[in-house]
Amino acid sequence: MARVIAVYNQKGGVAKTTTCVNLSAYLALEGKKVLLIDFDPQANASSGLGHPAKLNEGSIYHGLFGLAEPDALTKPTIFYNYHLIPSSQHLAGALIELVNIPEREHKLRQFIDKIRDKYDYIFIDMPPSLSLLTINGLVAADEIVIPVQSHYFSMEGLSQLLEIIELVHKNISTRGLKVSGAVMTMFDENEPLSHKIAGDIAASFPHNVFKTRIPRSSALSEAPSYGRPVILHDPNSTGARAYEQLAKELIAQETPKQFQMPSQMVSAVEPKQEQIVTPLPNESDILIDIKPQSQPEQPPVVATEAPIRDEALRQAQGDSTFYF
Ligand SMILES: Nc1ncnc2c1ncn2[C@@H]1O[C@H](COP(=O)(O)OP(=O)(O)OP(=O)(O)O)[C@@H](O)[C@H]1O
Ligand SMILES: [Mg+2]
Repeated sequence: MARVIAVYNQKGGVAKTTTCVNLSAYLALEGKKVLLIDFDPQANASSGLGHPAKLNEGSIYHGLFGLAEPDALTKPTIFYNYHLIPSSQHLAGALIELVNIPEREHKLRQFIDKIRDKYDYIFIDMPPSLSLLTINGLVAADEIVIPVQSHYFSMEGLSQLLEIIELVHKNISTRGLKVSGAVMTMFDENEPLSHKIAGDIAASFPHNVFKTRIPRSSALSEAPSYGRPVILHDPNSTGARAYEQLAKELIAQETPKQFQMPSQMVSAVEPKQEQIVTPLPNESDILIDIKPQSQPEQPPVVATEAPIRDEALRQAQGDSTFYF
């Protein structure tokens, strides 16, 4: 069963998409089966993975309204165990189309329920707003990762975000939405303000703050223009290494420990009925080939960590046998 994670902050430009694209890539490198759903009409995650939005192709819009099945919408990426469901501008219209249909807040969840058992991680790249789309994303997700730019107004935005989560929980979703953590992005080691903000958030944010801080990194901002994650653009950059570390932190949460949340917010967001704990997949389960049927057979991959990583890094240096 997948951990379904919405990467969300209502503030724009805080690195939601950069986090989705690169965190997913490093989780795939660690052998996880990953799906990234681009749920933003801007479609930046789609273009960042080499699938720029096309109006005449299927997108998550079609999935949302039951017009296409997940398999028909799933695109391959650089790793056979990393898939994308792209967005398109149609999704902007969904905001209006959703208003009058029954269970309008639950459409994305109903779509994801069809594929939940195919992946270890399903990421939802959320748009920068509070709308029916974002509510669909929050209702669909089990967890939320919150990118926080090292910026003066960040703390204010975080309080609003926690209120939004609580409102969704109380009024729409009876299930809990766990805060997996806030991650500091665009962190500048040499800037005192970055350190002050990170310190303030660590002291007052009532949930986990990831130890990994994502530094400002030109490699991270350049990679999308090549349509690929940073691991294939500049795997030795500080930005790449930070996302690799963040992936490991997220994997380390795959124990009951992740659900110990330390504040009064806990009762507001934790599940009413049951604790949902996603167990570690068996090692033998990790590398099942889940590529779309139209893809050619992949060469067998040994189900241990080191060969996957060696292979992926070899790809980063120009050998293309690991690509679709
Ligand atoms: N660590 C970083 N270092 C340098 N540039 C970064 C970093 N993270 C993100 N960026 C750049 O900042 C811009 C905003 O990032 P991104 O698109 O990921 O944010 P977002 O939160 O998804 O934005 P939106 O709210 O519009 O969806 C992009 O140009 C991206 O390349
Ligand atoms: Mg974005």
